[in-house]
Parts: sequence; C-alpha cells; structure tokens
Amino acid sequence: MTRTPVNVTVTGAAGQIGYALLFRIASGHLLGPDTPVNLRLLEITPALKAAEGTAMELDDCAFPLLKGITITDDAKTAFDGVNVALLVGARPRTKGMERGDLLEANGGIFKPQGEAINAGAADDVKVLVVGNPANTNALIAQQHAPDVPRERFTAMTRLDHNRALSQLAKKLGVAVTDIQNMTIWGNHSATQYPDLFHAKVGDKTAAEAVNDQEWLENDFIPTVAKRGAAIIEARGASSAASAANAAIDHIYDWVNGTEWTSMAVPSDGSYGVPEGIISSFPVKCSGGSYEIIQGLEIDEFSRARIDASVAELVEERDAVKGLGLI
Ligand code: NAD
Ligand code: LMR
Repeated sequence: MTRTPVNVTVTGAAGQIGYALLFRIASGHLLGPDTPVNLRLLEITPALKAAEGTAMELDDCAFPLLKGITITDDAKTAFDGVNVALLVGARPRTKGMERGDLLEANGGIFKPQGEAINAGAADDVKVLVVGNPANTNALIAQQHAPDVPRERFTAMTRLDHNRALSQLAKKLGVAVTDIQNMTIWGNHSATQYPDLFHAKVGDKTAAEAVNDQEWLENDFIPTVAKRGAAIIEARGASSAASAANAAIDHIYDWVNGTEWTSMAVPSDGSYGVPEGIISSFPVKCSGGSYEIIQGLEIDEFSRARIDASVAELVEERDAVKGLGLI
C-alpha cells in the first residue's frame, strides 16, 4: 500500500538537536516503519548552508521512507501543509540578557511561527515545542494560531519524564519497563515536579517502593529537575541526543497511543491548574488525541510542588502578556 507522506517541519534544523532528530525521523522512528515523510527544515538565513549540509547527509542515507526535503528560511513555506511541527529553534539566553529580553526574543520567533501554522497547517497538525522556555513559547505560538484547535499546541517534558524513569530504575535496581505511571507536573524548568506518589513499581507506589523520603525529596527531585543544567556543565552544551529522543517519544505516543505519559498541554483547569496555561500533566493518548488523566489524589507534599511550578508558568504568561506577545 502506498501511503501519503506526512509533512514534518523541524525548526532550528541546523542546530544540535536538529542533527540528532532528523535522521531518526527519516528512518521511521517518529511515526513508525510504514509512514513515509517529507521533511521541511526551517532555519535562519545564516544557517541555511549548514542545513543544506545535513540534507546532503540525509540523502546519503537513502532512507526508504524519506520522500522529500525542503530547506527554507521562510516560515510560511516551512509550515504549509504541515502535519507534525517540531519547534526546536529558539533564542538561547546569552550573557547579560535579562529574562524579559529572553522572552521578548523568543516572542519574535514563536509569534510569526504561530501565524504561519495558522495560515497553512494541515487540519490534523500536531505541534511540539522543544525550544526553551518551551511551555511559554508554546503558549505564544498557540495564541497566534486562533484557527488551530488549542490543544494541538504542546511542549516537551518527556525528557524530564525519561530522566525520572532512569533515576528511579537505578535507585530500585529494576528495569525502566518495570515502572508505570510516571508523571512530570508543571514547567520544563527547575521547578518541575517529578511525582513518585502515582508512579508504580509492581503493586506498590514508587514512593513506597523507595521507602526513603530523604532520597525522594533531596536527591531524586533535584537531580531530575536540574539534570539539564548538569548536562550543560558536563558537556559544555545542552542535551541534544536525549532531547531529540524525547521529542520522538512525545510525538510517537501522541500519534500511536499510550496509557500514560507526561506532556505539557493547555490546562482545562484540571488539578487546579489555571485554564489555558501550558503545563505538564499525566496524559493518555489514543486515536491521535490525548486526554489529561483524571481523578488522582494529590496530597499536601505534591500539591505544594505542583503549585510552585504552576505559579512560575503564570508569571511567565503574565510577563509575555505584559510585553504584548500574547
Ligand atoms: P542550537 O543552538 O544548537 O540550535 C538552535 C538552532 O535554532 C540554530 O541552528 C539556530 O540557527 C536556529 N534558530 C534560531 N532562531 C530560529 C528561527 N527563528 N527559525 C528557525 N531556526 C532558528 O540549540 P539546540 O541545542 O538544538 O537546542 C534548541 C532548543 O531546545 C534550545 O532552546 C534548548 O534550550 C532547548 N532544549 C529543550 C529541551 C526540553 O526538554 N524541552 C531539552 C534540551 C534543549
Ligand atoms: C534540558 O532540560 O536539558 C534543557 O532544557 C536545558 C537547557 O537549558 O537547554
């Protein structure tokens, strides 16, 4: 059976995550081994030549599923007919830059990209924002795409989720596949809350299995939440292959279904998170859609941590509102 290729746009395609991501998309890891893809690479003008180099390498792999590559510095061209949009390119914080400057610089990227998605995306478009600050960049793009259902704009906390699985598996001496129902709540930042009270190992909660509140509070949570900074310290550059891997996991599960994962999605008011804020929740995916898993009991310990991370997201939303970006 010949299937119509899926249009996948990657922004920041010449960056380090882009380099780790594109080959896996083209080899079928994003959408599965039966789905052909067209790749659209969006870059800023000075990086187009580097993107062309990556495209030459993609050609040289002779991937059977890769049906076409477009390289452009024009957002309208990049997002025309897009089915899956991976917004990776963002403005990193540089020396002397205040938070407001960073948000403003990213507003300059995610506002026009939201507008271009609104103008040209396919009806089934799914958007994942990876570029930091990911949750708030997703909000900016979403607010400039009023014709796209708002739940299609998501941000990435799957890397945090995978980090949490790995740390817990090591502590308990179990396989990552022995752990179910891991959840990251809140922002993709140091305030995020990796939750061991709803994660399960066999018939116990992960918190019961660990039975070490000191480790949970003073080791596990900060290790997961500050892992991005630890990677930067060790590598001299931010995580790239693991971030690309998490982006693949996020879209693969959204498209193909999963019983439980973490995604930053627009809040519908669940768990007291103000409506509209793009915050990480436990979600279930099926039939190409997701829903926030309902009915979890949140104790005082978890409540305080979820609230702190959500408060940071509200602050970021208010800051971009104040700057006229949404
Ligand atoms: P990088 O600097 O290597 O690459 C970024 C690329 O984006 C560059 O090639 C740049 O030219 C491009 N770019 C900048 N503005 C653009 C625009 N307007 N349109 C298209 N492309 C544009 O950075 P990286 O290591 O690939 O990381 C990318 C982003 O992902 C950063 O913001 C980083 O902080 C973030 N990140 C997020 C997570 C997460 O878990 N959510 C994890 C790791 C990294
Ligand atoms: C990560 O979690 O690895 C990144 O978001 C860190 C960063 O600031 O790029």
